[in-house]
Amino acid sequence: MRTAIEINRLCKTYRGSKTPAVDQLTLTVPEGAVFGLLGPNGAGKTTTIHILCGLRSFDSGEISIAGYSPKRRWKDIRRRIGFVPQDIALYPSLTAYENLQVFGGLMGLRGKLLKNRINELLHLFGLEHGKHRLIEHYSGGMKRRINLIAGLLHRPEILFLDEPTAGVDVQTKNLMLDNLKTINREGHTIIYTSHYMEEAETLCTQIALIDGGKTICTGTPSGLIAQTKGCDKLEDVYLQLTGKKLRDE
Ligand SMILES: Nc1ncnc2c1ncn2[C@@H]1O[C@H](COP(=O)(O)OP(=O)(O)O)[C@@H](O)[C@H]1O
Ligand SMILES: [Mg+2]
Repeated sequence: MRTAIEINRLCKTYRGSKTPAVDQLTLTVPEGAVFGLLGPNGAGKTTTIHILCGLRSFDSGEISIAGYSPKRRWKDIRRRIGFVPQDIALYPSLTAYENLQVFGGLMGLRGKLLKNRINELLHLFGLEHGKHRLIEHYSGGMKRRINLIAGLLHRPEILFLDEPTAGVDVQTKNLMLDNLKTINREGHTIIYTSHYMEEAETLCTQIALIDGGKTICTGTPSGLIAQTKGCDKLEDVYLQLTGKKLRDE
């Protein structure tokens, strides 16, 4: 099977910090996977995603995305990936539609093609009616959906989602997850971060549990549940392997 992403002994320590945010992280994401990068707050999920999307530098190790090394072949990678940030990144004083025009334009989409893609995705995510309203008047769940659409407009081969369902209600979450499953079935690889284990268990074909910037285990959700003693759901595996201590005090 071809790999979408290879990470080999990746290290990153932020300037001024004593402990690494990513510490010898090694992972392989097969093409076509919904790959969950899971772990508690501060585990290094966002830093890893940012490095893979070319938004941050790293200290050592190797990464390859769609077969290319981002250091040398960023131009070949850029339009093949989509990135949906953890912190909503939209222009509040533009409408939803205008926001999507901006993001699609940045990916080289224009005219009728862009218009059709925007309308298609607004329909899929149940947002066609409010598309001419300003983002600042949108609810949190609606902003999350527009944030997600912004990363999908150019139909990326590999989609990076950093906590895409944070803070949304159950109905919105279910709609988002159903659509992500459909998008994955159409051939898009998804890398997704979360600390919602129940959600990850239903969505992911494979997961890596990370903590302290290191990989703790990788496998399929059912495989990890079966091989971890006394566990019958992914949350049990997660708690057993990452411990019960609070992380963001
Ligand atoms: N810009 C930054 N400067 C310094 N330290 C950071 C920065 N961003 C994240 N960190 C630290 O790096 C570690 C990993 O953070 P992050 O990648 O955001 O984890 P996660 O997304 O899993 O919650 C944490 O200890 C966090 O405090
Ligand atoms: Mg994060």
